[in-house]
Amino acid sequence: MKPIGILDSGLGGVSVVLALHRAYPAMAMVYLADQIHAPYGSKSKEEICAIMHDNINWFKQQGIDEVLLACNTASSNALEYLHEHFPTMKIDGIIDVTVDQLDDADCIGVLATSATIASHAYKSKIERRVDAVVIEQAAPELVGMIEALEDEENLLKVLDQYCASIRECDTVILGCTHYPLIRHLIAQKVSGKIVDSIEPIIKSFASKEMARGDIRIYTTKDPVHLSKQIKIIFGEKIEVIKGVVK
Ligand code: DGL
Repeated sequence: MKPIGILDSGLGGVSVVLALHRAYPAMAMVYLADQIHAPYGSKSKEEICAIMHDNINWFKQQGIDEVLLACNTASSNALEYLHEHFPTMKIDGIIDVTVDQLDDADCIGVLATSATIASHAYKSKIERRVDAVVIEQAAPELVGMIEALEDEENLLKVLDQYCASIRECDTVILGCTHYPLIRHLIAQKVSGKIVDSIEPIIKSFASKEMARGDIRIYTTKDPVHLSKQIKIIFGEKIEVIKGVVK
């Protein structure tokens, strides 16, 4: 069996990889942090599909045939495209598992990148599953600020603006894998229950056959920088390798 490939634009995917590693310590994973293209959320659907095409090809070159898009922006904009262009690979997104965990709710706020919100992927999937009002809110600056390890005071200021429309919702979906990293700040600005993709992703692996091995973390940008970001945010000392895509 081959390791599973995991893909995101940066730190959001690291939190998914580390959570999976905690739950399944023997599972082999290859993570690509495509930081050279971050943030994905400000790009068009066509640009996101083109970037994902090259990234999936990179996994293919590594001999990997199963990839999890640990990224809502890629899942909502490029999944169909990737299924069409890589029919022999198993490529999964994370929107369905995130929506499937929802209980009854009256008002669901979706906080996500501009590209995820523009796709309306959450809204249409939620409306098929739950009878609730859905409020979609884009947060264009958040991923860049999280990647830059921006201080809490500045993050709280932009969250004031982004959370105003979803403050009263009884459920708030963190529709970007970067946002759980500042969940404690978002919790100060909304009153509803906060849900994200991490728990459902872990559950989705529970009955899966997994290759045993280590975790390899690549970045398309600067390995020393990502290694430092991981140390600061997660307190883990992890070696990062340069991933040359294309
Ligand atoms: N973490 C990603 C997501 O879940 C990508 C964010 C970005 O690069 O804009 O949407």
